Amino acid sequence: MSEQPAPYGTPPAISADASTASGLPEPGTAPATPLARVRIPHLQQMKDRGERWAMLTAYDMYTAQVFEEAGIPVLLVGDSASNNVLGNESSLPVTVDEMIMLTRGVSRAARRALIVVDLPFGSYQASPEQAFLTAARFLKEAGAHAVKLEGGVEVVPQVEKLVHSGVPVMAHIGFTPQSEHQLGGYRVQGRGDDGARLIADARALEAAGAFAVVLEMVPATVAAEVTAALRIPTVGIGAGAGCDAQVLVWQDMAGLRAGRMPRFVKQYADVRGALVDAARAYAADVASGAFPGPEHQF
Ligand code: KIV
Repeated sequence: MSEQPAPYGTPPAISADASTASGLPEPGTAPATPLARVRIPHLQQMKDRGERWAMLTAYDMYTAQVFEEAGIPVLLVGDSASNNVLGNESSLPVTVDEMIMLTRGVSRAARRALIVVDLPFGSYQASPEQAFLTAARFLKEAGAHAVKLEGGVEVVPQVEKLVHSGVPVMAHIGFTPQSEHQLGGYRVQGRGDDGARLIADARALEAAGAFAVVLEMVPATVAAEVTAALRIPTVGIGAGAGCDAQVLVWQDMAGLRAGRMPRFVKQYADVRGALVDAARAYAADVASGAFPGPEHQF
């Protein structure tokens, strides 16, 4: 019989030697029984059951472990790593090799989550063949399970080629950061008559075989319309509550990034404040001689 892991919303049976609350093994230890991997059909099943799910970006092994422990079913190695990890001003400069390195860290750590990786700017637009060759590297060399690419009807040939070659595709429409210069900056897309174009794009991507569609910075009413029109899940970011799933960049969600946040971000922690406090306390202890203490010495 084919593998039928439990739907992700159902906690896995905690194995006898599992010592963490989540049932996930301690880092570095092997689980006694294999844990069920989230698969594309689970996401579809969740939409069919009306269950909302959360996706987060992750760019390294610790965030992958932490978010998986929190039960996040899908981790996105976003090209937002360009701005959020590598210090670039936009998502445009990040390279395939840089993304492969980051994706490896995530895929080595994540045992359950579905790992989706962004195809960087310039690595898929030229042709369906280019898209396939790039995606193949992410699946073979980096351990990704699916790829995400930006664009509407214009990338349908790429989506078809990937899907026919066995590569699951998450689409991304609305505001597409790789086109920020063409779009004139970070702007809400799909207002007024443009809403119909967005719905047509979403339908075309679904017909091409995409398993989900990210809707970024689109009016909530339009996102809800797209969500109702599609069989596959929509994943919103700045697209209101009517989507099947939501995604945030983890540094925004956890309060690591400083400065003004986009309107669509909700911060659930002050990780930046906690790190600043910890670093200050450490530096003060070093200066005063309180660290290292006798218990830290050999
Ligand atoms: O790169 C990214 O992080 C993204 C999400 C914000 C959707 O594309």
